[in-house]
Amino acid sequence: MSEYAFGRPIGKIIHGGDYNPEQWLDRPDILEKDIEYMKQAGVNEATLGVFSWAMYEPREGEFHLEWLHEIMDRLYENGIYTILATPSAARPAWLDSKYPEVMRVDDMGIRRRHGLRHNHCMSSEVYREKVGIINRKLAEEVGDHPGLLAWHISNEFGGECFCDLCKAKFQDFLRKRYNGDIEKLNHEWWATFWSARYSDFSEVEPPYANGQIAIMGHKLDWRRFTTWNYADYTRSEIRAIREGSKKKDVPITTNLMKRFYDIDYRVLAKELDVISWDSYPLMHNDWESYEDTMIEGAFDHAIMRGLRKDKPFLLMESCPGSVNWSEYNKLKRPKVHEQFSLQAVACGSDSVQYFQWRQSRGAWEQFHGAVVSHLGTNDTRIFREVAHTGETLKKIAEVEGSTSRSEAAIIFEWENWWAIDYSGGFSGKTKKYDTTCQKYWEALMRRGIDADIISVNDDFDGYKLILAPMLFSVRPETAEKLKAFVEKGGILLGTYMTGYVNENTLCYEGGFPGAGLKELFGVIAEEIDTLYPSDKNAICMTEDKCFSVRDYCEILRVSDAEVLGKYKDDFYSGTPAITCKKNGQGKAYYQAARILPEELVGFLDMLISDAGIKTRELPSGIEWHRRVGADATYDFYLNLSEQDVTLSGLNGIDLVTGETINGNVTIPGRGNLVVKTV
Ligand code: GLA
Ligand code: ZN
Repeated sequence: MSEYAFGRPIGKIIHGGDYNPEQWLDRPDILEKDIEYMKQAGVNEATLGVFSWAMYEPREGEFHLEWLHEIMDRLYENGIYTILATPSAARPAWLDSKYPEVMRVDDMGIRRRHGLRHNHCMSSEVYREKVGIINRKLAEEVGDHPGLLAWHISNEFGGECFCDLCKAKFQDFLRKRYNGDIEKLNHEWWATFWSARYSDFSEVEPPYANGQIAIMGHKLDWRRFTTWNYADYTRSEIRAIREGSKKKDVPITTNLMKRFYDIDYRVLAKELDVISWDSYPLMHNDWESYEDTMIEGAFDHAIMRGLRKDKPFLLMESCPGSVNWSEYNKLKRPKVHEQFSLQAVACGSDSVQYFQWRQSRGAWEQFHGAVVSHLGTNDTRIFREVAHTGETLKKIAEVEGSTSRSEAAIIFEWENWWAIDYSGGFSGKTKKYDTTCQKYWEALMRRGIDADIISVNDDFDGYKLILAPMLFSVRPETAEKLKAFVEKGGILLGTYMTGYVNENTLCYEGGFPGAGLKELFGVIAEEIDTLYPSDKNAICMTEDKCFSVRDYCEILRVSDAEVLGKYKDDFYSGTPAITCKKNGQGKAYYQAARILPEELVGFLDMLISDAGIKTRELPSGIEWHRRVGADATYDFYLNLSEQDVTLSGLNGIDLVTGETINGNVTIPGRGNLVVKTV
């Protein structure tokens, strides 16, 4: 077993999830059954205490943590570890009633009332202090418990607060960002427009929905501030845990969410020892195929994996049956649970965890899927599927700690996402920055390339191919890095909407893409045409090799790039649409229009081949991922189709059956194969 940095390698893939025994403290029979069933299901972890504050501290200063300690003991005696949450995501009523400042104020300036969860002001010192007290108590009580695997801060951070405390903090944040010079802020926000100028930082408000919403730099800085405030808040929770615990090195995480817009996860990730996230794809919906849902989920895993490339992440929550919050709450079909779980592991997770172990009898989530249903037995379809997955995870336990690294990367940047969305122009319906990145990732996957999702701030060394779709907002340093990457032999793709604005959304003068990128690509985008959904165009490389185009077409001036493809239709028919410029050892490709996702791979083939990246043709329906450990390589093949699929030319050991593979293997419909090679 490798000593990887998760901190507590346990020689197992973690299998467990949210467990709320505090809902059943008066039912010892149920608590007994839980342990018995957990063992039967191959569960080795329970995430405790996610919303337990009102049980820990029913009245201010009155603490009851004995029940938690006892449950952790019993779990541990039975081979079940604990990931312990801090309870800050839902507050006891006494706290809100005595200290109303802890409740959030919305974007119309109205204070919310007590109730629900995730409804607190991140800036409130009272809130931080009260959370600090309970966190320290927890740390003192169980911080050195041998069963404690990790700390889980709060739950699914999100949302914003527009209260006066947050306003004042935002102003301080801006003072620092603009070195106390309000004229700098006025310049970067282009505040002379519509008389938006400020004479002092104290005049700046958050972007209230009924206030200033026309200044993109303002909105972007608010997002930066909110992100910073979440990170700062997280540090305050961590401080309390570390102060209270004898053991200072228990890893800390917080559960992230799919494509979460409000917080730049790369900034938050810096505070965490391990990345974990909650995945709830809407399986079997009526607008896309099962394959499409799965592959989208794989991209989401790749985003998480990219937040910390040096170590595995955790799938902190997922649903074994159906969720309760979707418009239609469809059950996962047979075998899907295991395939979905193995996909997470294939993509770099060292855990498969659920929300939740046992269904709540009452309240909002009573019909949310769980391992143990209201029927209360271990012979349900879902229980059996979970137990089967538990068995499989035991068999593949040695993948724990292995990671993956690709030669190809796609840049996906939160600040860029916000900048594109906040800008006027184009079409609010079709900008779709995140799905655009996803479609490039999927296109590479069709060639067996499981690209990394990276930030412009990451190290580009080691990559042969970087795709930078719609990199609208570019800092000069980023442009320099991209230039250096190409000069050293990298293959780079830039697309329509690249380099229009700087980091504060001021347009670059003298031609897009700015910041020196027009020299790198050898083009200037003089105009951009936003198409209606019924509009179509194409880019033709030769008379009979064309790619369909939708949504956006830039009209280019080409200076010193080679023109590879031209527009087929419209008044810009025959003008350049795909170009390539050699720089040093590498090449910078420019794609001026949005190619239909299903045709992208035909275009990318050229870049993949230039980059010298090995491709792999897989039968249709097969999803493939690779994890690499210290002594072995693990290939995961998921048969997403309902038919048997035969793979040929495989060598290694089938980790699930232990049999040696040499040649052909048939994977049954929705079956999976994990092959180890040394
Ligand atoms: C989120 C929360 C859980 C639960 C699930 C339901 O992931 O973290 O507490 O509410 O959603 O899907
Ligand atoms: Zn606030």
